[in-house]
Parts: sequence; C-alpha cells; structure tokens
Amino acid sequence: MWIKRLELRNFRNYDSLQLFDLSPRVNILVGQNAQGKTNVVEAMLLLSVGKSHRTNKDAEMIRFEADFATLQAVIERQERAYRLDLTLLPKGKKSAVNGVEKRKMSDFVGHLNVVLFAPEDLQLIKGGPQQRRRFLDVEIGQVSPQYLYNLTQYQKVLLQRNSLLKEIGQRKVGEEMLMIWDDQLAVYGSKVIRKRLEFVERLEGFAKEIHMRISGGKEALSFHYQNSLDCSDLTRMEEIYREELTAKRKVDILRGSTSVGPHRDDLEVRIDERKVQTFGSQGQQRTASLSMKLAEIELIKAEVGEYPVLLLDDVLSELDEERQLHLVKSMGEKVQTIVTTTTTFGLEHFLSEEANVYRVERGIIAKEG
Ligand SMILES: Nc1ncnc2c1ncn2[C@@H]1O[C@H](COP(=O)(O)OP(=O)(O)OP(=O)(O)O)[C@@H](O)[C@H]1O
Ligand SMILES: [Mg+2]
Repeated sequence: MWIKRLELRNFRNYDSLQLFDLSPRVNILVGQNAQGKTNVVEAMLLLSVGKSHRTNKDAEMIRFEADFATLQAVIERQERAYRLDLTLLPKGKKSAVNGVEKRKMSDFVGHLNVVLFAPEDLQLIKGGPQQRRRFLDVEIGQVSPQYLYNLTQYQKVLLQRNSLLKEIGQRKVGEEMLMIWDDQLAVYGSKVIRKRLEFVERLEGFAKEIHMRISGGKEALSFHYQNSLDCSDLTRMEEIYREELTAKRKVDILRGSTSVGPHRDDLEVRIDERKVQTFGSQGQQRTASLSMKLAEIELIKAEVGEYPVLLLDDVLSELDEERQLHLVKSMGEKVQTIVTTTTTFGLEHFLSEEANVYRVERGIIAKEG
C-alpha cells in the first residue's frame, strides 16, 4: 500500500500543506532542523495508528493559535483506494474513512499500515535488556492478543509473588502460599517464553536478509534468545520452571524479588557470531537495530497481505554512504519509503532518477526538479 496524497491544515507548523504527487517508492524530505520534517512523519503515523509517537496530548499538534487541525490522505491499496480524514479538536478527535464517520478510533486505524524508525530506535541494541524485551512485547502484542493476555497475567502474578516474598522475608507469613504463585508463574511464564522464541526465530529470518543487503553482503546477523531458565528441553519448560523457582527460593526471599523468568530474559544480537552490543562498531549497532525493526515490514506483509509504508526519520546520517544507499534502494524497491534528512549528501546519484525530493522550510514544502 502507499500514501498517494497528504493534506494538512493547522497541523503543527503547517498552515496548509498539500502533497499531491508522492511517489509509491522513495520520497525524501530534506531540510534543516526544526523546519517540519518530523511533523510530516508524525502526521502519517497519526493517520495509521491514531496516535502520535511524540505526545499523548492530541491538542499539542494543533497549530499554535488555531482551533482545530485536519489531516487528510488518500491511500492506495491493492483492492481499492481509501480516503482518510482526521480532525483534531482541543478535546478529542473525529475520524472518517471514505467520508463515513467512524465513532470508534479502532474502526479508523489499520487502513494505513506504517513502520516508523525514529532516532530512539537506534538504542535497541545499545540500550539495556529492558528495551529489547519491550520491543519483543510490543511487536508480538501487535499480532497476538493471546500473547498480551498471557504477558499481563504473568506480570500480575509476578507482582503478587514478589510482595509475598517480601512478607516472608519480614517473617510476617510462612512459605506455604508461594506454591500457588510459583505454579501460576510457570504456566504463564512458559507461554510467554514459547511465543517469544517462536517470534524471534521468524524475525531472524527476515532481519538476516535485510542486514545482509544493507551491509552490502558482508555481515551475517543472528538473534539468540537468552532464557533465564536453564531449559534445553522445551517440552519440559513448565516443569523446569517450577524446579528453578524452588531451587532459587532462598535467594528470592532474601532479595524480595523473582530471579528467573521472562522478565529477566534478553535478546542477544550477533554479527558474524559476535555480540554486537559488546563488539560491534557504532555503525554496526545502528544497522543491526535498523534491520531488526525493518524485519517488521515483512511480518506485516505476512499478516496483512500488503507491505506497509516505511517512515525513516533522521536515520540516514547515522550510516555511511554505502549503507545509506543500500538501505534506501533496497527498501524503495518494494515499499513506499518516506525519508527525512538534513542533507542528501551520499544519495546524490540515486536521487535524481529514482526518488521524489522535497525541500522543507519553515512549514512549507516544495518539490524539487
Ligand atoms: N502545535 C504547533 N504549532 C506550531 N508549530 C509547532 C507546533 N508544534 C511544533 N511546532 C514547531 O515545529 C517545529 C519542529 O518541527 P519538526 O520536529 O518537524 O522539525 P524537523 O524538521 O524534524 O527538525 P529536526 O531536523 O531537528 O528533527 C518546531 O520549530 C516547533 O516550534
Ligand atoms: Mg525531526
């Protein structure tokens, strides 16, 4: 699918913006800082998922001194085109698809699918395990409500077990009650781990190929789920889980927290069999984060049957020229790509023939060429 046209009124620093001729392939928004590049990306995301990645307050996106903002887009999909309308009011918003008002936001979202890669995502590899766990939870949750249910149950049980551990530590209660929580933790925890293992394997297949392309055929990316349970036999996971909880009980009581389970797991990313977080260069870490996220494009394709639109906000300057070119080229071949950048240096050869270039200056966008 692709965004054919986009119109914004009183959105952020745009008084009135009309992009009528977006390319189904690569579109590059070039401009200095604070000119409105991310604002366009934000508008596209808003039309897709119904909320911004930068704020929870919709009113913040209405242009200063304006009463309301309107966003409109025409989306070309395989079977037909859709017109999406979104109005932001000081309190709440209104939406319509093909002129038919949608009462619930959930009936509006999903007509347009996007994958956004923003500068924050570069932390995926460099950051702590918590960030990678969150990545897994969010990505899996999008395609599996069952996973979200099991994860929520797990987190509830974990909280209860931890507070019980503390009470036992203070000798307020005995250890008998732990059995019930251990049992529940093992049930939900193994479901969470199983699903993550399955997802990581699928994601790896896609990410490997993407990474290979961006690195110019040089680097082999692989994922290794770090299970805090010592569990080589997956069919016995629940049983092993219970045994480990029992084995670690003394330590857990001392610490007042649970030492094994999916909340302690991590996803190790390797390039040519070496851990990227430790041994990778900055550029390799960035490329690996990018490949991980871009793999999502293929997952959506598998779910929805069509490629989503790719939004790359401000990531080009983080890569060398060769990687920039491989990235933009390989993505542009199959998905509509919207790229923002402060400079097109490194992409010059490619630009003139294969991409639409737009210059962004103080809330005004002009097409080049
Ligand atoms: N509600 C609003 N009304 C008017 N202007 C706004 C509003 N919200 C943000 N802006 C303006 O939008 C500009 C920032 O736009 P944006 O984040 O798109 O910049 P950018 O081109 O992506 O810059 P950078 O290269 O630094 O990321 C700021 O100058 C800000 O003052
Ligand atoms: Mg920006």
